Amino acid sequence: MQIGLACDHGGFELKEELKSFLRSVNIEPADMGTFAEDSVDYPDFGMLVAEKVSRGELERGILICGTGIGMSILANKFPGVRAALANDLYSARLSREHNDSNILVIGGRIVAKDLAKEIVRVWLETPFSAGRHKRRLEKIEAIEKKNFKG
Ligand code: RB5
Repeated sequence: MQIGLACDHGGFELKEELKSFLRSVNIEPADMGTFAEDSVDYPDFGMLVAEKVSRGELERGILICGTGIGMSILANKFPGVRAALANDLYSARLSREHNDSNILVIGGRIVAKDLAKEIVRVWLETPFSAGRHKRRLEKIEAIEKKNFKG
């Protein structure tokens, strides 16, 4: 699976941890920064991953900022992106089963490292359950198509 990874300074430490974790499960993520703890603007980095997921150039992405909120708002501006802020295991699982999330967002200042790794593991391993959830996503897609002017 091709996964893009990006963060701001609020998510830098966790991004590095998750990069090692992903490698330990044989996934080499495309790390799009940031690459240091200096203050940066999360849209500059989140967009690099969200754009590629939107275009189908990456299957999935993981974004991390301080709370996860800014990255979520940003990523969901991109057509076809279903970014889910999941700072707990239940949300991570349901974001896959019900929402077919293709970007996972985590708050680096909220979630402890070990929990974050479990969140990523669950998110990677849980399939979309389709059925009635597919119909709901198709409704969102139709709204997106109607509104998107890009
Ligand atoms: C940066 O201080 C912080 O605003 C950012 O990491 C994120 O939490 C935004 O939503």
